[in-house]
Amino acid sequence: VKAAVAALALSVSASAVSAACDDGEIVIKFSHVTNTDKHPKGIAASLLEQRVNDEMNGKACMEVFPNSTLYNDNQVLEAMLQGDVQLAAPSLSKFEQFTKQFRIFDLPFMFRDIDAVDAFQTSDTGQAMLESMTKRGLLGLAFWHNGMKQMSANKPLVSPSDAQGLKFRVQSSDVLKAQMAAIGGSPQPMAFSEVYGALQTGVVDGQENTWSNIYGKKFFEVQDGITETNHGIIDYLLVTNVDWWEGLDADVRDQLATIISEVTVARNAESTAVNAQNKQAIIDAGGTVRTLTAEQREEWVTVMKPVWEQFKDDVGQENIDAAQAINA
Ligand code: LMR
Repeated sequence: VKAAVAALALSVSASAVSAACDDGEIVIKFSHVTNTDKHPKGIAASLLEQRVNDEMNGKACMEVFPNSTLYNDNQVLEAMLQGDVQLAAPSLSKFEQFTKQFRIFDLPFMFRDIDAVDAFQTSDTGQAMLESMTKRGLLGLAFWHNGMKQMSANKPLVSPSDAQGLKFRVQSSDVLKAQMAAIGGSPQPMAFSEVYGALQTGVVDGQENTWSNIYGKKFFEVQDGITETNHGIIDYLLVTNVDWWEGLDADVRDQLATIISEVTVARNAESTAVNAQNKQAIIDAGGTVRTLTAEQREEWVTVMKPVWEQFKDDVGQENIDAAQAINA
């Protein structure tokens, strides 16, 4: 009986995983790390899944694996190169091993807001970045927005000097390490799925993230408060394996590309509103949100912005100038 129950459980879970897929359909596995329903990336991924499964039925099927259930961001690009997953949307900070161009997106206070990020990405320079890793086997299909980053810690952060000596979780990015060092913090690279536990147990004291990630993974519950610094951005590359993409029949690839582009336009337009809802949800849940005066925020600018100098050659002064022109 035990064996029969185990076999049944196996077949139920196997059919649940491939519910969307019929024999003969191209299987598109999409692995990501956030939640699905209140998050700019999660909502976009779910909408993409729904549209592909509705409109490409018989030709292709998509299965989304959210919440790091299949891979975390440090593993997913390798898995993609192995052909184990066909789509992912890691933050731009996570491409460090493949390109240094994306470092511009991690530089603190580089972009005024997500509209400025959007304008940069849709420029010729930004669009060329989609293809900056094709020699390494990865092709960018679209930029997806999340939002502006905020700072949090297990003590109030108002002046950057409050961060002195604290351990901050960072994504695996040299720019973000340098940024935390600039405020006197100790940067600790760590996968997104481990951040809540690390904050809770005191392995790290603080972190930086968007409202949707701070609410979605409940970081605010294990922090003193969130300081609204808007000091940087989290944005994503919807990325695929070049060989897999080029191996698709042209009609399938074109239809998929059209759906991706429509989902991108529709959901990117909502990302700022989704983050605002998450900020409000933190406040409603009893979390502390601290706002800064213009003078207080300027202190963070003064301390963090000098890291641009270290990465100027990686990102190109002309790209920094283009980003600044958009802000103006
Ligand atoms: C993080 O690691 O903090 C974020 O990149 C997670 C995400 O995908 O938004």
